[in-house]
Amino acid sequence: MMRRVETCASLHGTVRVPGDKSASHRAIMLSALAAGESTIEGLSPGLDVAATSQIMVQLGARRHDVDGLVVIEGPDEGLRPSERPLWCGNSGTTMRLVSGIVSSLEGTHHLEGDPSLSRRPMDRVAIPLGLMGATVTGEGARVTPPLTIHGRSDLRAIDYHVPTASAQVKSAILLAGLYAQGTTSVHEDVRTRTTTEDMLDQAGVSLTSHDVGEGRRVTLAPGRPRAHAWRVPTDPSQAAFFCVLGVIHPHADIEIVDVEDSPERIGFLRVLQRMGADLVERPGSSGVTLRARSSGLHATEIHSREIPSVDEVPVLSVAAAAAAGVSAFRDMGELRLKESDRFEGSMALARLLGCEVWSEGDDFFVRGLASADAFSSFAINAGLDHRIVMSSAVAGAAGHGCDIDGSDTVSSSYPGFFEDLGRLR
Ligand code: S3P
Repeated sequence: MMRRVETCASLHGTVRVPGDKSASHRAIMLSALAAGESTIEGLSPGLDVAATSQIMVQLGARRHDVDGLVVIEGPDEGLRPSERPLWCGNSGTTMRLVSGIVSSLEGTHHLEGDPSLSRRPMDRVAIPLGLMGATVTGEGARVTPPLTIHGRSDLRAIDYHVPTASAQVKSAILLAGLYAQGTTSVHEDVRTRTTTEDMLDQAGVSLTSHDVGEGRRVTLAPGRPRAHAWRVPTDPSQAAFFCVLGVIHPHADIEIVDVEDSPERIGFLRVLQRMGADLVERPGSSGVTLRARSSGLHATEIHSREIPSVDEVPVLSVAAAAAAGVSAFRDMGELRLKESDRFEGSMALARLLGCEVWSEGDDFFVRGLASADAFSSFAINAGLDHRIVMSSAVAGAAGHGCDIDGSDTVSSSYPGFFEDLGRLR
């Protein structure tokens, strides 16, 4: 679907972004694994999380919704394989975490995804899950979907060093470790989001986690999660779009309320503040409320370590386009493996806005135009990538408009994004 985003003369008001996608996936999975009824408040309304929910139902969980509260009932006897393929849609988190879960379910499982997911590497989970005793096969050396997984009820625990920082890989191993024999340990060199560890802990699973240098080691004893009443915080990576919009727009004063502020998720905020953004934090009723006001930005250097998972880089490249000077994005190779090639996509977007952009290996550089008022009007194909849709919309609303082909992909994480944007005008 093609959508036109018009320039906004001014932006004022308040926005509450939807429930965190990461926490929503895990809330559904842990509820389905537990025996009995769990409830989830504030679940992400996106299609990615709906895919996870549908898969858990296929594996034997029951779901019903009561007044905005989602109730998931895990079967007493545990989940069971499904003969039908498990449809993961556009969602890498669904495919990688479900791979961990079904690896411990005796039987054969088929996992499929849309064309974007079908080009993403699954070797990063196939290798550790294989070491645990499951067999995960896909296409080619990078094990791209569709996947066939032979699960086993007698998985072995492993002590695994995750070679490339990834919360999804860490989580897939921990979820498989719930049903393995022995203690599973995962070591990451960069601290990625702690959603899985935190939620497993809340569900009564015995687990320890401690920092090792810049990284972390998580160790888990097998055990079944307990049913729980989950409250999903709002999604900081969605708040990032409105933060950038507020600071680069020449006449903006917007508040983003109750944003989850764990250090692994809020790196983008520190980057923007370093660029000179007028972004003020105050305590929210949960997390922080952020006030973003028009600011003159200057260039900075951003390392992937500061923003583990690099989800906010496409919209930060829009901030860099509005800044004065050359911003450097360092060690951004992982961007190539997201819903689209966001390395090329982030550069392409800044180029469409009128910036000089270049790359050297895994680094890329944006020479900013010193103001969003200098942005060109542009047209872009978002290529099944929700974050490219939203980053483009931010650039168009702050600058001189844009046309986004494939804008409906926004529904994978934030179906109400354009309505929320429209309310700020
Ligand atoms: C996620 C982890 C990240 C992130 C994704 C959600 C998660 O991926 O990009 O949007 O919920 O675990 P990586 O594991 O590739 O860092």
